[in-house]
Amino acid sequence: MINYTIMQKIIDEIKKTSGDMARRGWAESNGGNISLRLNSENYACFDGLQTKSDWIKLPVAIPEIAGERFLVTGTGRFLRNIEVFPEKNIGVIEIDRKGEAWQLLWGYEPTGAPTSELPAHLLSHVSIKKKSDNQSFAFIHTHPNSVIALTYAVANLDTKSLSKILWQSHAECVVVFPQGIEFLSWKMAGSMDLGRATAEAMLRRNLAVWQFHGICGCGRNLDEAFGRIDVAEKAAEICLRVMAAGGAKQTLTDTQLRAIAANFNCPIDESLFE
Ligand code: 13P
Ligand code: ZN
Repeated sequence: MINYTIMQKIIDEIKKTSGDMARRGWAESNGGNISLRLNSENYACFDGLQTKSDWIKLPVAIPEIAGERFLVTGTGRFLRNIEVFPEKNIGVIEIDRKGEAWQLLWGYEPTGAPTSELPAHLLSHVSIKKKSDNQSFAFIHTHPNSVIALTYAVANLDTKSLSKILWQSHAECVVVFPQGIEFLSWKMAGSMDLGRATAEAMLRRNLAVWQFHGICGCGRNLDEAFGRIDVAEKAAEICLRVMAAGGAKQTLTDTQLRAIAANFNCPIDESLFE
């Protein structure tokens, strides 16, 4: 039997995140997508439901998430509409026992499918589950203006330069993402290539920028994933404002960045200073 109290809690959580993303201007049209791996309490809530689709093959087998259930936004659905019609715009899928296929348990009314970025979401869930010792459940991809604009405005961006630019643009960044932010050069949206590169990045960092496209973030829950993206986007906005004002006349030094990280016990990725 479905536990409506628990189900309502998960739906409320995704409503809050998707609504905030839309109001921030990060989710034009169907831009952006969200997935939440269900923890044991949430998982059980979808036991015994009549399934709503056949098994649909995944583009690649992912045995590490065999049997898992995910709440995932639907492809082509608008994040801003989740608050109004959750059952149309989100769905709960289950992965089969070999990690080769998914089926729909709930949602995407009247018909639909998970986001086209499912490879990036599912493969990244493998990475974040592993690196967090099964404590990380949330993954978000979105289109915030300033992060995207930076990928046009700054020449020769890579992971080191992007991490450093954002750390220096807002003193909070080194605390929120001391492992830096991965820069991924342009790859086709929805591709396995993009999915694999993102998942690989998620083993090392909690944020990855997709050149000319957007950003991805992970966390223990949606609030944490959202918060990381929010701080990176704010730093990108400050950076662009500084550039528009004629460029930085002074900035945070490496010594100051290290001191902030140390003060808040954040394990900074030293290789990004090299
Ligand atoms: P979906 O509508 O398939 O979720 O795609 C939106 C998007 O942002 C693709 O990168
Ligand atoms: Zn996108």
